[in-house]
Amino acid sequence: MALRSFFVGGNWKMNGNKGILGELILSLNTSSLQDDTEVVCAAPSIYLDFVRSCLDPRIGVAAQNCFKVSKGAFTGEISPAMIKDCGADWVILGHSERRHVFGESDELIGQKVAHALESDLGVIACVGEKLEEREAGTTEEVVYAQTQVIAENVKDWGKVVLAYEPVWAIGTGKTATPEQAQEVHEKLRVWLRANVSDDVADSVRIIYGGSVTGANCRELASQADVDGFLTEAGLQA
Ligand SMILES: *[C@@H]1O[C@H](CO)[C@@H](O)[C@H](O)[C@H]1NC(C)=O
Repeated sequence: MALRSFFVGGNWKMNGNKGILGELILSLNTSSLQDDTEVVCAAPSIYLDFVRSCLDPRIGVAAQNCFKVSKGAFTGEISPAMIKDCGADWVILGHSERRHVFGESDELIGQKVAHALESDLGVIACVGEKLEEREAGTTEEVVYAQTQVIAENVKDWGKVVLAYEPVWAIGTGKTATPEQAQEVHEKLRVWLRANVSDDVADSVRIIYGGSVTGANCRELASQADVDGFLTEAGLQA
């Protein structure tokens, strides 16, 4: 198996303020980080500059969304160029809340992925099925279709992390078992092997973004195709 360093993304969502984030940053800066684990914090866009200037440079900073072009008459949006200008190197795209609360389509997410990568941002690209889709037995169909649109927009997979988030296990108290997570991660890797390349299948980190807790993180992390987490840990309301 190719070496895939563990990747932990903390998605702060729309939480915190300068005081609370300042405290969180302080505790992150003084915590011991493992050299072989990449840690990235996704901050609210208005705090990207603040977070980047306070956070230990060993920890990456991500935006939680961006638009598909570099500038223009798009009131309220931010571009990858602006994210980079604030010193952040990553963006989360296709998060289930963007898909299902804000109605972003696969197509728009694909365009955003393409533009973010062209702008030299790393992309944490999220896929995942809703409860009714899992219950209807269409999990594979849904995550394959989402992954396909992302893949069509990626030229260089070196800066892409794929995040599998079963939507039914986010903030609902329901948790996927480590086996359920591994099953989908393995299928996504097989998908990459068949539809992209062996190299990409071996090297791309597939991280898990369901409910990750202190109680289940070890067992999740021990699954062969789970290469990290996308969590909300640290900032629950
Ligand atoms: C390749 O992609 C197609 C379209 O998404 C999908 O139906 C198929 O299952 C994929 N192949 C594998 C082996 O996953």
